[in-house]
Amino acid sequence: PTSHTADLVVFGGTGDLSMRKLLPALFHSDLEGRLAPETRIVAMSRGGLTDADFRGKVDAEVRAAVPDDGVAWQRFLGRLHHVSVDVGGEDKSGWSTVVRMLAGHEDRDRVFYLASPPMTFGPFCRELQEAGLVTPRSRVVLEKPLGRDLVSAQRINDEVGEIFDERQIFRIDHYLGKETVQNLLVLRFANAFLEPIWNSLWIDHVQITAAETVGTPGRRGYYDHAGALRDMVQNHLLQLLTLVAMEPPARNDRESIRDEKVKVLQSLRPIVGSEVDRFTVRGQYTGEGDMPSYLDEPASTPTTEASRRVETFTAIRAEVKNWRWAGVPFYLRTGKRMPYRRSEIVIQFKDVPHSIFPGGTPNRLVLRLQPEEGIELHIMAKEPGAGETMLKPVPLSLSFGKTFTARVPEAYERLLTDVLAGNPTLFMRRDEVEAAWRWIDPILAAWESSAELPEPYPAGTTGPAGAHELLGRSGRAWHEEE
Ligand code: BG6
Repeated sequence: PTSHTADLVVFGGTGDLSMRKLLPALFHSDLEGRLAPETRIVAMSRGGLTDADFRGKVDAEVRAAVPDDGVAWQRFLGRLHHVSVDVGGEDKSGWSTVVRMLAGHEDRDRVFYLASPPMTFGPFCRELQEAGLVTPRSRVVLEKPLGRDLVSAQRINDEVGEIFDERQIFRIDHYLGKETVQNLLVLRFANAFLEPIWNSLWIDHVQITAAETVGTPGRRGYYDHAGALRDMVQNHLLQLLTLVAMEPPARNDRESIRDEKVKVLQSLRPIVGSEVDRFTVRGQYTGEGDMPSYLDEPASTPTTEASRRVETFTAIRAEVKNWRWAGVPFYLRTGKRMPYRRSEIVIQFKDVPHSIFPGGTPNRLVLRLQPEEGIELHIMAKEPGAGETMLKPVPLSLSFGKTFTARVPEAYERLLTDVLAGNPTLFMRRDEVEAAWRWIDPILAAWESSAELPEPYPAGTTGPAGAHELLGRSGRAWHEEE
């Protein structure tokens, strides 16, 4: 359905996220008729570009990445504007330009998308309000990372909360926009056979992996102060964990689902003090072949102590302390420069209570988010042959690409559609973000006070030895490509 006419103002509108993700997603929405004819997209940056410059830049950088439809593309370019604004600076002339542009359009939905570092969120919202731009139909979208610990997240939430009501605040975690992630809810709550076995009686453990082959070239300035725990676990991996572990909500609506998710985060068993060493692993990649080490990646900032200490890989043994999950480990793992790009959730069911065949295991459900979205149930089957019965694990697979012919939309497309429709179900509520930080903080604190550096692992491998020991000491192993 077409959304209401909106003015979408993107702060950081010429940045990497905007050019790589937001604008292509908006073009797809436009192409499929989901943007109202009068909807405008206003990029804000310090760049000093005119509308024509910005359209030229988008034409040069984005067009090749989207479907080739000249008419639709020209219409899309026509929606684009650019305003130079110096947020937090003395010069307010940019703001007056925005005010003039938006004046007379108070009846439209107004979306302020902050694709900028978190310390700009509070000041930006204040300046928006001072410029008189916040209307009852306004919403604000906050990109991750939302702060760098609980205290900074609370401060940002307070600052933004002074200007916008919670119902107007959309905190993005793009993993929630991925098709398989939404499918997880459908799989769990639209099929009767899984729910009875979705608990500690039947499930041995859960693995959530987000492995990437990319390193961090050009990102050191950000990454040195983020690391894998803040960059991926606090948000993406914990969000996946909540969807696996949550209780069935009463309704498919914004608060029912988020209420259940936050309970999971609040039930995470804290990992504190000396337990941090036992239940967490951090690694940093070293050079291998033509892949440089983290410290040798091209960067615009020099290597510092923070660079030496930051983790590019982490693995954690988490536990959800409630009736359903007591005693079931949730292993989380993410890293840069791993041998494959693969994000998946593995539900490992328990072994049969008594086996009459040699060999065993699979009993495994794999939900793959990327590269190919799909669901696999790994079962044991008999290998054909007249001799002794030999077992072989085989997958029953559902590939979304092969089963559904429709194009699988990018995560940002779904999320931007929801923002324009005013639907916050797939966005993080304040209490969720803060509960996630509350669990992360003691791990960060222990790492920061530790005399040890992250364990090295060669680029292109599955992480440091510690990550394998984390499971190995209870006789388990990471699910690797078979
Ligand atoms: C981002 C992180 O949030 O997610 C990046 O900042 C990471 O470091 C990216 O590469 C991964 O997203 P995806 O969709 O490619 O799994």
